[in-house]
Amino acid sequence: MEFDPWQITNIGDYEQLYKFGVEPFEKYRAKYSDLRYIRRGTVFGQRGFDKIDVAMSAKKPFIMMTGLMPSGSFHFGHKMVADEIIWFQRKGARTYIAAADIESYLMRGVTLQDAKRIAIEEYLTNYIALGLDPKKTTFWFQSDYVAPYYRLADVAAKEVTFNEMKSIYGDITNSKIVSALKQVADILHPQLPEFEGKMPTVVPVGADQDPHIRLTRDIAARLGHTYKMELPSATFHRFMEGLQGGKMSSSDPKSYIALSEDPKSARKKMMSAMSGGRATLEEQKKLGGQPDICSVYKFCLYHLVDDDKELKGMYDECRSGRITCGDCKKRCADMMEKFLIEHQKKMAKAREAAKELAEKFTSKK
Ligand code: TRP
Ligand code: SF4
Repeated sequence: MEFDPWQITNIGDYEQLYKFGVEPFEKYRAKYSDLRYIRRGTVFGQRGFDKIDVAMSAKKPFIMMTGLMPSGSFHFGHKMVADEIIWFQRKGARTYIAAADIESYLMRGVTLQDAKRIAIEEYLTNYIALGLDPKKTTFWFQSDYVAPYYRLADVAAKEVTFNEMKSIYGDITNSKIVSALKQVADILHPQLPEFEGKMPTVVPVGADQDPHIRLTRDIAARLGHTYKMELPSATFHRFMEGLQGGKMSSSDPKSYIALSEDPKSARKKMMSAMSGGRATLEEQKKLGGQPDICSVYKFCLYHLVDDDKELKGMYDECRSGRITCGDCKKRCADMMEKFLIEHQKKMAKAREAAKELAEKFTSKK
């Protein structure tokens, strides 16, 4: 029952996570439907979300913590976590964000220098351009932070055996152990007395991160003799598929559109994306298209069309064969171009704030 979050390319059937103890998000869907990903079922699973629901409903303090592994351009797949972070922050969450430069170095071979630059110029700049409030955010690099964080990562090592690590991650290496324990400290350290103290914590992540969440919850429970902490909660979202089908991956530019991409190049990618259209125009008219397997439609579903009626209109038009893929793609490419032009203006304004925030919590050597 192990799975390796660093190898996973396609989860396929998300329901399989329920076997590991992830629970459906469904019962909270209506209540939190103001987040598009919740409303549309993109956020499909959770662990321990009741604690967060209780805190949010009672306007009690809670922590939102998540992390990013800087390894390439910030693309629309990454935007999903960003939107979730911002949503929780606006709901009052105390916001903590880790730049996993150590993980990037150990697992992807990105130098610490590059990882730092990518984290700031790509991720953080985009987070702020999308609406993150830097004044209300704690942001750190795994390679450069404060002592209580490192102490927690080290002490956590005693709470889990080598065999348990193997049964969670499969093949185990030194790099995986270090990365996993850093992530445990990322998630748990906001609850240390030096920070917020014991407090419900939600970790919004892609479904591939569940092994880390399981490990962290186990360790949090066992650390009870030294630290008082809540088991962290998590929400899980589906991945965005790539433009050519398969995974949207930073290492394959044909699979994604970056938020910093030249709008004209984005337009071209959209026009040549894999659609759910039929082989011929006649068939398209007779059978209708297949939006559920169409990467163009997915961009609208996740990012470009917020209005549900409008989205349903597009879905129905496609299914009934009333529109050709060419016309439909053009319409989506227009939306994409408009979005990028606006967004890139915001990015330009966000750069300074991103640099400042990146400096703020580093150990001033
Ligand atoms: N491992 C995560 C990824 O691959 C990044 C990450 C590091 C993270 N620390 C975290 C995610 C803490 C959630 C919480 O993207
Ligand atoms: Fe996709 Fe649009 Fe074609 Fe339907 S009509 S398959 S949504 S591109």
